Amino acid sequence: MPEKFYITTPLYYVNGEPHLGSAYTTIFADVITRFHKKMGFDTRFLTGVDEHGQKILEASSKAGIDPQDFCNQMAQRYVETWKKLSIDYDVFFRTTDPAHVKFVQNILQKVYDNGDIYLSEYSGWYCTPDERFWTEKDIVEGNCPLCGRPVHTITEQNYFFRMSRYQQWLIDHIKNNPDCIKPVSRKNEVLGFLKKPLEDLCISRPRARLSWGVSIPFDDNYVTYVWFDALFNYLSSTRIHNNMSEDFWPADYHLLGKDILTTHCVYWPTFLKAAGFEPVKSVFAHGWWLADKGKMSKSQGTVVKPLDLIDKLGIDVDAFRYTLMREMVPEHDAKFSEDILIKRYNSDLANDLGNLYNRLWKMYVKYNWENYRSPEIDTFIETEIAQTIEQLRESVYQSIRDFHPHTAIEEILQFVRGLNKQIEQWKPWKLDWSVRNDVNTETATAMLTLIRDLYHSADLLEPVMPAKMAELKSWIETMHLPAGGAGLFPRIVKSILEEKEQITITPEKRKEEPEKISDISFEDFARLDLRVGKIISARKHENADKLLVLEVDLGDEKRQVVAGIAISYEPENLIGLNVAVVANLKPAKLRGEISAGMILAANQDGAFSILSPNDDLKPGVRIS
Ligand code: MSP
Repeated sequence: MPEKFYITTPLYYVNGEPHLGSAYTTIFADVITRFHKKMGFDTRFLTGVDEHGQKILEASSKAGIDPQDFCNQMAQRYVETWKKLSIDYDVFFRTTDPAHVKFVQNILQKVYDNGDIYLSEYSGWYCTPDERFWTEKDIVEGNCPLCGRPVHTITEQNYFFRMSRYQQWLIDHIKNNPDCIKPVSRKNEVLGFLKKPLEDLCISRPRARLSWGVSIPFDDNYVTYVWFDALFNYLSSTRIHNNMSEDFWPADYHLLGKDILTTHCVYWPTFLKAAGFEPVKSVFAHGWWLADKGKMSKSQGTVVKPLDLIDKLGIDVDAFRYTLMREMVPEHDAKFSEDILIKRYNSDLANDLGNLYNRLWKMYVKYNWENYRSPEIDTFIETEIAQTIEQLRESVYQSIRDFHPHTAIEEILQFVRGLNKQIEQWKPWKLDWSVRNDVNTETATAMLTLIRDLYHSADLLEPVMPAKMAELKSWIETMHLPAGGAGLFPRIVKSILEEKEQITITPEKRKEEPEKISDISFEDFARLDLRVGKIISARKHENADKLLVLEVDLGDEKRQVVAGIAISYEPENLIGLNVAVVANLKPAKLRGEISAGMILAANQDGAFSILSPNDDLKPGVRIS
């Protein structure tokens, strides 16, 4: 029997649409689940929506529709968005599911019968016009945060959960199960919180004030909502959903943002204890995606909607998943910007991965490496690389067990970069492929090996980019691709290049340039900004035989440079080459292509030879 693995995300409030934050947690859980499937686990992945409570009731009345209809519509929005983001959950949970409501009512009754729920007085800040309670931290200088009118303390009868009774049990539980809250910093936060006396928790609202909740079975005048309702979804799902079973309790992981750490690490285990269930094995609380001014928030208009962004940048869903997973170190917050996304996409996907495939494929076809293959060679290659791939796989899986997709991805990408380097070392384009000799056979075998390495890299990246990597794997499996790899991850061209398109050098201006080079001073020379650049793509200029259009990595930026060296170089042989770039040359347009810099080359008898700084120099390093 395969080992079981059950992971959940929070149930997102339906009063807001899916956004980057909820998309991140859900993609994260999806990636972790897909990896666990690969590792051979019998997995279950639950996500869903939280539909009860004041805020949702308000949102539905604002929209002028019945709360249940409102929830149905919003739940559908989540379902559609997650589908477009390739999220492959097993359960989409809704707290208005009657089977769940019944489950919660049974628990309430049981805990009440055991004496852990009691009626008492509740005092809080109340806004009479809005008919709403606020906490101390909500109110703004004694006024309601919603309407700005003064709030008053009022006292009413409510039901309380005897949370205080479980304080010592909880402290002991956390100390005896060091992995039950991750990362460690969050565990310490919870233990710090538990140093103060734990108060009992108010879990009800009078139905007269809030009807949109779960009726309390032993007192029809009250409802419960949010925490005593929604948290139980993780457990009730194992009882009420067809593709689940009781064996999946306790869940392996609740994945969530640090905003709901206390509810999941203090309220939830004490609820479970009181109801007679085992606590979950582990809670992992990740950081926040931040906008420029703190957490993305609806009220500040800083919320990013994933599908809008994907449309705007014209990037693939998988590339979006990749960049979110690669950019965030889950222990910390991460800043989000379109620039970060574009940079990561271009450097890792278009350049490292896309380019590797592109080069290998083109050479495979051009040099007929198909002829160097045989079943024996294929088996030989697989045996040769087995150990390396196994090591990589194990270390990637370990990073996933640590909830570090960014490290897992980086390990795979390091490997991919190494494959690119090996092409540079073997230089297959220097050989004469019209003959078959030992060197050619050895080189072709080395390149076929790289293709298999790429296959395994794609397999390891598949949980992050399911559609793209499945496509890449099947291309390699069949060694058949009509369009070559160019379409795998087309580079995103920054708008800055589009702006520079405006600048052109007219023929008159060109004439003004000095014909002869006269003596220059040291100061004149010092004005030149010479940098090491790495060529990351190269193609023939469509309208000029002598020109190549190069994309050069200058460390913190990428530039397009047009160079008159086509007579001496095939574009594909330039990729990965370090060059000396005049980086502060005024941009110019050459036959319709922008050129933002110049590369240095020697010219002997009409043939060019590029001046190439050492391979180990990083792009952007100053040449003086
Ligand atoms: N309904 C409750 C949870 C009940 S769970 C039984 C709730 N909903 S929520 O819609 O506010 O979702 C909060 C969660 O959304 C966070 O814990 C996190 O998973 C995700 N995120 C929301 N904003 C986020 C960021 N800016 N960054 C990262 N994750 C964020 O709380």
